[in-house]
Amino acid sequence: VPVATESIAEPMPKYECQRITRLKHHNHRFTTALALLEEHAGYLQSGKQDSRALAFRKAACSLKALHHPLTNIEEARKLPHIGRHSLEVIQDILEDGFSREVQDICDGDFYETMQLFTGIFGVGATTARKWYETGFRTLDDIRNDSTLSLKRDQKIGLDLYQDLNTPVSLAEADIIQDLVNSEVQKLQPGATVVLTGGFRRGKTEGHDVDLLISHPTEGKETGLLSAVLARLRGKDLLAYETMSANTYDPSSVSKKEYTLDHFERCFSIFKLDKSLISSTQNAKPTSESPAGVVQQGTSNPDRPHQGEEVSLERAGGTASFSEGDKTAEKTWVGRRVDLIIAPASQYAYALVGWTGSKHFNRSLRLYADHERNMKLTSHVLYDTVKHQYLPASSEEDVFHHLQLPYREPAERNC
Ligand code: GTP
Ligand code: MN
Ligand code: MN
Repeated sequence: VPVATESIAEPMPKYECQRITRLKHHNHRFTTALALLEEHAGYLQSGKQDSRALAFRKAACSLKALHHPLTNIEEARKLPHIGRHSLEVIQDILEDGFSREVQDICDGDFYETMQLFTGIFGVGATTARKWYETGFRTLDDIRNDSTLSLKRDQKIGLDLYQDLNTPVSLAEADIIQDLVNSEVQKLQPGATVVLTGGFRRGKTEGHDVDLLISHPTEGKETGLLSAVLARLRGKDLLAYETMSANTYDPSSVSKKEYTLDHFERCFSIFKLDKSLISSTQNAKPTSESPAGVVQQGTSNPDRPHQGEEVSLERAGGTASFSEGDKTAEKTWVGRRVDLIIAPASQYAYALVGWTGSKHFNRSLRLYADHERNMKLTSHVLYDTVKHQYLPASSEEDVFHHLQLPYREPAERNC
């Protein structure tokens, strides 16, 4: 039986990167509700400075790091970053077992429609909201409106809606990693292909597959990405790809844009042959329900749900891929894959950056900046007092430079 001594013993540290945050914790009944409110806030006012969404996220993070189930509101008040609005939601759940605000959001058609539209690859909150305000409610409303000029990624997103809104299983991620690795080895023996992102943090499903490619010998990674893509294309394994060149400029680390990263990388959609994955399909219902709301979908506790029920129904049946033969049932499943290339000298920072979670990285960067006078990116760590870069050959080195206890990937799920 866990004893609730931690709040007496020592207060929870302020930065998420100072804490241990696992996928499974004691307060899902609160955090799923807060995650939904975060998502909803992101739909209302899109943009990078979405402080409301961030406030819900931070409150949820504090609850995730708590070593026992929260049982009273006074205890919540003592936790860091739990704002007034989040406190009210927590109180409602403590008292009534659910949040009326969350229930109302789920009952309205705004949230549902926004989830549907932002589920389209290439569609963000701004576009989705514009469509909602125009009166569109279904994917067919979008498909059938000839006045919309959809971008290439959005067209693919509509065609492959069902595929891309079915969670990627770990088994599928492993298959894709093997596939990429075998091409990489043919081109540059000794190169490494590592599964990062949520899977590295222990998730069993995700929205995509994040693969970090490198080579122990600096420079041998140069040109590798385009060569790999050419091979994959040659084998007809890509449904979509968009590559960005390496725009990394060491002098930019002190400027504001330092949080963006500049690796050579590719956002793609793989064609994963159905025969390879037939035994690994994973449409299992989630064990999570935000505060009394019944939902189907992913078991990822980070996300409220992906509206699979809605999307399947609204997608209007199984879409066959429309490039070329419109009638043939396709033999593959579309899977989102991010390929990133990092040179050996930046590998440790890239690994931390692409392992996530996104919020964990955010807290790492803030911690580095405010507590250590250092600038952290997915490329380097720069000491702004000593005016020097701090080289790292492992993730442990990165944490060591920041004078933080090392956190395993599974402990970075905030
Ligand atoms: P799911 O894919 O939804 O399962 O979760 P995930 O945690 O894997 O999320 P995602 O694939 O979006 O991102 C994986 C990690 O890469 C996260 O830590 C992100 O912060 C990071 N990431 C994503 N895009 C970028 C980017 O453009 N630059 C940097 N530096 N990191 C990024
Ligand atoms: Mn991912
Ligand atoms: Mn990704």
